[in-house]
Amino acid sequence: MAVIPGDGIGPEVVSEALKVVAAAGVTLETEHYELGAARYLRDGFVMSDDLMSELSGFDAVLLGAIGPPVDSTAVPAGVLERGLLLRLRFDLDLYVNLRPFDGAPGSIAEGASFKVVRENTEGPYAGEGGVLRRGRPGEIATQGSVNTRMGVERCVRFAFDLAEDSPRRRVTLVHKTNVLTFAGDLWRRVFEEVGLEHPGVETSYQHVDAACIHMVERAASYGVIVTDNLFGDILTDLAGALCGGIGLAASANLNPAMTGPSLFEPVHGAAHDIAGKGVANPLAAIRSAAMMLDFLEEGEAASHIERAVLDVQAGIAGRKDRWSTAEIGDAVVGRL
Ligand code: IPM
Ligand code: MN
Repeated sequence: MAVIPGDGIGPEVVSEALKVVAAAGVTLETEHYELGAARYLRDGFVMSDDLMSELSGFDAVLLGAIGPPVDSTAVPAGVLERGLLLRLRFDLDLYVNLRPFDGAPGSIAEGASFKVVRENTEGPYAGEGGVLRRGRPGEIATQGSVNTRMGVERCVRFAFDLAEDSPRRRVTLVHKTNVLTFAGDLWRRVFEEVGLEHPGVETSYQHVDAACIHMVERAASYGVIVTDNLFGDILTDLAGALCGGIGLAASANLNPAMTGPSLFEPVHGAAHDIAGKGVANPLAAIRSAAMMLDFLEEGEAASHIERAVLDVQAGIAGRKDRWSTAEIGDAVVGRL
C-alpha cells in the first residue's frame, strides 16, 4: 500500500495507525510518498500523471492530512485540494466517501451509530464553472453542480446495500429538492427507484437544513445517510463535532468496483497548530486504517481494531488527564 503521511499532524496519526495495524497481526508492504504542502513549498510538486499511474497500482492508499497552515498565503486555495486530494478521488474513481459515526460517551450524539455515504466525484466538486472579467467591473463567477444518473445511482446503490447489511436497515436521503430542483429531482427519483429493489429497507427524505437540526437533536435515529458531495462534506463535519470531535471521524474513499486502490483518511485536516506536539488524537486515522483492512478483506483484524478504538474512545471520554498521541495508539494496541 501507498502511505501519504502529508502535513501537520498527518505523519503522527498515520504512524499510530500503522502501529495498530501491525499489532492486529496484519503485515503490510508499504511505500511512503512525501506529498502535500511541505513538498509543494519545497519544490513546487503537487502530483503528476506518472505518479498517478504509479499510485493506481497499489491495493490501497492511506493518507494522513494535506494542507498548509490556515494563515499561510504561500499555497493558493485549491492547489492542493484540487491538485492532490480531489485528483486522487476523481482519477481513481473513488465514488463513495463512507464516514461512520459513533457518538462517544458524553458527546451530544452519545449512543448514535450511523454512516454517511457521500457522493465523492460529482456535485459542486466537479469543478464546472468559470470566471469572466476577473477583478474588473461586471465580473462573473459561476460554479455548477454536476449530477449524472450513473454517478447518483451507483452512490445510492452503495447506500442501500450498506443499509441492507446493517442492523437498522434504514436509509435517509438528504438533499435540497425544494430549491435545487433539477439535481434534487434526479436524486429523489433514483433514490425511489433503487428503494423499490430493497423492500426490506426503510427509507426517508430530509432537506439538508432540517437534517442539521435532526442530527443535533435525534442523531440516534439515523442508520445510513446518503447525500451529495457538498452536503456530505458539511454534514460530516457536523456529525464529527456531535459525536465527540473531528479527531474521531474516520473515512474511506471507495472505488467499490475495485478497479484500482481506494483511499483511506481521517476526516480532520493537518491541524498545524498542534502538529509536532504529540497531542493529536490518532483514533480517526486508526479507524480509517481499520476501514482499509475491512475493504481489503481483512475483516477480522478490522473489526478487532474498530472495537478497540470504540473501547478506548469510551475510556478516555470526559477525562481530565491529557493523553498523548502515542499513548492513545498504545491503548488501542493494549485493547487488541
Ligand atoms: C473533506 C475535506 C475536503 C473536502 C477538502 C480538504 C477538499 O474537507 O474530506 O471533507 O472538501 O472534501
Ligand atoms: Mn470536509
